[in-house]
Amino acid sequence: MRTPVVAGNWKMNTTLADATALARAVVDGVDGITGVTTVVCPPAVSLVPVSMALTGSNVFIGAQDVNPNSQGAHTGELSADMLAGLCTYVIVGHSERRSLYGEDDAITAAKARASLGSGLRPIVCVGESLEVRDTGNAASLVASQVKGSLARISDISQVAIAYEPVWAIGTGRAASPEIAQEMASTIRSAVAALYSDEAANGIPILYGGSVNPDNAVSYAASPDVDGALVGGAALDGVAFARIVDAVAASG
Ligand code: 13P
Repeated sequence: MRTPVVAGNWKMNTTLADATALARAVVDGVDGITGVTTVVCPPAVSLVPVSMALTGSNVFIGAQDVNPNSQGAHTGELSADMLAGLCTYVIVGHSERRSLYGEDDAITAAKARASLGSGLRPIVCVGESLEVRDTGNAASLVASQVKGSLARISDISQVAIAYEPVWAIGTGRAASPEIAQEMASTIRSAVAALYSDEAANGIPILYGGSVNPDNAVSYAASPDVDGALVGGAALDGVAFARIVDAVAASG
């Protein structure tokens, strides 16, 4: 049985004060909810105060990115070892990293390997553009992203994968539950082909893209969708907690 994961990606939002207040609201909102792993991913500068605000709670913390190198002359970057003291999870290969910062599957895989090497759990993001979907190539593109983004990773037991179609992110145009299920199943099959059925059946596959408290339950009901990676709605502690609750209720 897979435990669903609901992760909030705060992206480049929240000041230090906002982040602490939001973390407290999430802690209060999800208090008593069981059967779901709740994660918040604040901006790097807020990891310390947010981790303090989460102390004693059942909410985990994740980073939004990591540098694949272990140390050295990489001005402005953070290594997996630095994050490991603070975080449990780290998002890698988000479509905004891919499209705005030119990151490809090879860099994503290097980040995932660095994360695993430091004991962090990577949330590896994949997803097609609207153009790829419209030309009928979404499944093959996403399967190839999965393969490339897990390159040279031998043990995926600590990996989660997030299916985030680019056209659904921040647009209010969420993928239908049918598309989310079909793509999550495609991803699980791709993982099974690369590893084993057992490995594929063990990993959480999240859906991300305009998830809100009202639609969360429809994804949670899909057999291959094991939770959500939430952007905009994660900036409202009450809305985020409602998503966590919806996923818990359908478990
Ligand atoms: P939205 O929920 O704002 O569409 O963002 C999704 C996302 O990119 C989470 O990583």
